[in-house]
Amino acid sequence: MAKDKQNVDYGLEKIFAGAQDFLPLLGTDYVEFYVGNAKQAAHFYKTAFGFQSFAYRGLETGSKDSVSYVLTQDKIKLILTSPLTSKSPINDHIVKHGDGVKVVALWVEDARSAYEETTKRGAKSYMEPTVEKDEFGEVVRSGIYTYGETVHIFVERKNYTGTFLPGFKAWESDYNPEPVGLKYIDHMVGNVGWNEMNVWVKWYEDVMGFENFLSFDDKQITTEYSALMSKVMSNGNGRIKFPINEPAKGKKKSQIEEYLDFYEGPGVQHIAVATNDIIATVTDLRKRGIEFLSTPPVEYYTNVPKRLLEHNHELREDIDALMALGIMIDADEEGYLLQIFTKPIEDRPTLFFEIIQRMGARGFGAGNFKALFEAIEREQEKRGTL
Ligand code: FE2
Repeated sequence: MAKDKQNVDYGLEKIFAGAQDFLPLLGTDYVEFYVGNAKQAAHFYKTAFGFQSFAYRGLETGSKDSVSYVLTQDKIKLILTSPLTSKSPINDHIVKHGDGVKVVALWVEDARSAYEETTKRGAKSYMEPTVEKDEFGEVVRSGIYTYGETVHIFVERKNYTGTFLPGFKAWESDYNPEPVGLKYIDHMVGNVGWNEMNVWVKWYEDVMGFENFLSFDDKQITTEYSALMSKVMSNGNGRIKFPINEPAKGKKKSQIEEYLDFYEGPGVQHIAVATNDIIATVTDLRKRGIEFLSTPPVEYYTNVPKRLLEHNHELREDIDALMALGIMIDADEEGYLLQIFTKPIEDRPTLFFEIIQRMGARGFGAGNFKALFEAIEREQEKRGTL
């Protein structure tokens, strides 16, 4: 019964009815970044974020124009891809956007049907259904454009038993730093331009059958200086969540505008990865050199027990440990969540990561937006982009 009630609260009952589920998604398959130097980026993700060597494709496997390193940590798979010659179109992407997310790949039962259903509803084609084979079977992939130059690739791997995808070989490395406890991708956020949020909300509804299950307007997401708006899109089974942000007018420049200026267009703003023990994970990440946005003030933590009690929850973690690490807390009727945000992970102030531990709450930390955005503004101030 309790579960049914939750579904009503979040409007998910209608989604679970499946009336629109022409695009059943099994989960996130992989996230592919286009980067200037995949070898060095792979070292960073292993050393700093605890990702494990998984698969490789490059000159040694017969790939002449690009190289890809696949990294894994529990259910998460990242691909880091770089061009090997000036002729590769990947160069154009890197010149324009810097290092960034090119592909958010979704795991499906049927990549041909996913392509047909989405393109007939208006999606722009990126890759027609393509069968790739090796001695371990076959994978079918197809792809469509979403916001900016970002794409969704549908991956059908039910007839494949190989390591990753045909063309890749297992990547055995002698350098294997320990994982930091990252489990799966909780959500991935896109930044789009002025007045474009609702365009992309409608696109996810019409083309992919998603539903808008939470919305935040510029009055909820505002500081003294800047503002943004956000709507969270979810697929039918709730496994895929894509919040979409657009800038809003404020006294100074919104962080979304700063992103759009430096990414030179819409793109993925942050990837939220889940952990079951955020204190251990963040302690480890900090030791490994990951930089986080600055810590909220002490008063923030003094108010936490009261904020949780308002929703009848009791914090299970040690508040001093959370404060020492700068981890933020938010609560709703169902539970609470713990979260922290890294600084951008490249020189352009674009993509960053969120580390999140859900203790029942299904929100996105709305109660922390103000503290978070003030922290981002302090960074913008230093960059001269506020
Ligand atoms: Fe987030």
